[in-house]
Amino acid sequence: MPAEKMRAIRYHAYGEPADVLRLEEAPIPVPQAGHVAVRVHACGLNPADWALCRGLFARQLPSGIGLDVSGVVTAVGEGVSDLAVGDAVFGPADFRNYPSAGAADEAVLYHWDRLPDGLSHVDAAALPMAVETAARYLAWSGFQKGQTILVNGAGSMVGFAVVQMALLHGARVIATAGETFADRLRALGALVVAHGEGVVERVRALVSEAPDVLVDAAPVNLQSRYAGALPDLVEIARGDAARVITATDVEGAAKAGVRTGAENIQSEGGFKLRWDVLGEYGRLAAEGRFSIPVAQTFALEDWRKALDISLAGRARGKLVLMPGG
Ligand SMILES: NC(=O)c1ccc[n+]([C@@H]2O[C@H](COP(=O)([O-])OP(=O)(O)OC[C@H]3O[C@@H](n4cnc5c(N)ncnc54)[C@H](OP(=O)(O)O)[C@@H]3O)[C@@H](O)[C@H]2O)c1
Repeated sequence: MPAEKMRAIRYHAYGEPADVLRLEEAPIPVPQAGHVAVRVHACGLNPADWALCRGLFARQLPSGIGLDVSGVVTAVGEGVSDLAVGDAVFGPADFRNYPSAGAADEAVLYHWDRLPDGLSHVDAAALPMAVETAARYLAWSGFQKGQTILVNGAGSMVGFAVVQMALLHGARVIATAGETFADRLRALGALVVAHGEGVVERVRALVSEAPDVLVDAAPVNLQSRYAGALPDLVEIARGDAARVITATDVEGAAKAGVRTGAENIQSEGGFKLRWDVLGEYGRLAAEGRFSIPVAQTFALEDWRKALDISLAGRARGKLVLMPGG
């Protein structure tokens, strides 16, 4: 019997996302053991989607984009006993084992949490990657309750999540951010300065001592006017590069001698993603105590508008596709 078809945004060759991505018909994915399929209500986009198109984690093609999903279960794989068709869930789409991902009418999830009452599909689809990355880097940074942490690029969604998590853990937080989220970050309790040239002086004017840890979440491709923030972060750390970890700038890290998390992966015996905290932050989001702001939603067919905004560095919050309209 021929596979049933759906709409999906996919690529058949690696290259620039605007050149290789297309909205096309694709087979509806059938979940493997331990996975669930959902009808996608909302799919959050990430810079990682464009990196996948350019060849990150090269795998069999065609492949799909869209890693953050919220939707309603349509089928469960063998061995899944905690969910039934019709349940609302959110989590990461499996882009490795299926020829499409979350930017589609249906997607397969390899981890999920139930959508809490009071959390919309759109707000839930903004959470997975930002929450997972922030939790992982906050832990890898070595941050301890009550310490002072500097988050560089707190206007990125990973940075915005790190700030909120650190505040929930009793930190004093210094955030570097552009204008979009500066007031919101201040209202949350962070001390905020502008990112970019002169950041060392601006931070020193606020706090005299070096922060205990510094987490860099500034998208590296958006730093072109500026030779990368890491040397400045090391200076803010009074030369102690071990206090600095970057989630974004692997090349700069090698030059500045700061950490990337590679050493943690080694000591943990492999790359362990922090999906264990997603449900907790989903519940906090439903209670209004945590959020990843949604900048804009788009119909699936308007994906190019979202791509242009993201690549131009004007995301200013999460860009979310709505395959269900
Ligand atoms: N290592 C990992 O496992 C991992 C996982 C996920 C993401 N990442 C990386 O983390 C970064 C953030 O991802 P995201 O989804 O949170 O990005 P995002 O929300 O799309 O980030 C865009 C925001 O970055 C801010 N920004 C732009 N130029 C900046 C600069 N020079 N310095 C500081 N902030 C700047 C802007 O906010 P303002 O208005 O404040 O300027 C902009 O709205 C990306 O580079 C991504 O690839 C890494």
